[in-house]
Amino acid sequence: MKMIKSFGVFPLVTALAIPAIVFSLSWSWGMPGFVSPAWGKDIENPPLAKNEAEKRILRVLEDIRKGPWMMNVDPLHGRLLRILTEAVNAKNVVEIGASNGYSALWICLGLQATGGRLTTHEIDPQVAKLARENFKQAGVDHLVTVVLGDAHQTVARLQEPIDILFIDADKPGYLDYLNKLLPLVRPGGLILADNMARPAPSRDFIQAITTNPGLETIFLNMESTGIGLTVKKH
Ligand SMILES: C[S@@+](CC[C@H](N)C(=O)[O-])C[C@H]1O[C@@H](n2cnc3c(N)ncnc32)[C@H](O)[C@@H]1O
Repeated sequence: MKMIKSFGVFPLVTALAIPAIVFSLSWSWGMPGFVSPAWGKDIENPPLAKNEAEKRILRVLEDIRKGPWMMNVDPLHGRLLRILTEAVNAKNVVEIGASNGYSALWICLGLQATGGRLTTHEIDPQVAKLARENFKQAGVDHLVTVVLGDAHQTVARLQEPIDILFIDADKPGYLDYLNKLLPLVRPGGLILADNMARPAPSRDFIQAITTNPGLETIFLNMESTGIGLTVKKH
């Protein structure tokens, strides 16, 4: 109070105002040392349906999200699958682990644009049935072949070059799927592997995709469940 009396109220207002201005600017610019709202983090970015066929698929995706959850990928991973399917103009996509068809439907959104097809493998007849129903409901059953059985065996039937291989089944089995299918992945083709953060696959799979000189890998969304994206070099 003595200070206010001797210097007046103005310096006190200034002293309070300056940190307030600095704080609000740093907030909006995201300067280090201050809490930033991380712009973009909360932006809802739903995929826009470009036509009736996409609307139909997106509706089924939305319904699946209402539950029950059947070990489906993070929607972000689904969108990544869709975009990459279009980006590499995929004609032949192979999925290991169909569940009720959620990730497969994202892939189908991409395949509609590329004119490609998906072969998805599933060991559980109940969920394979659900997947088939969802594909029908979404109007993409003509794009997808569901292979029922243990994929460690059934992938031996695959012969065509693969543009995208998506691995999302039994975690200890990832390396076996990679070893069996890498020769079929075309140069420039992609291998995506879900759940790189949790429940993580075996170390030997991670070792294989990170140390093979013919492959280049990044891990994404590791603060959540994580997904590995690998390109087979030319
Ligand atoms: C994580 S879920 C797949 C989720 C799906 N990709 C999605 O996002 O909608 C794993 C699926 O792999 C299946 N699975 C586990 N082991 C398998 C195997 N050896 N062969 C084929 N499918 C298998 C399980 O039955 C389960 O439905």
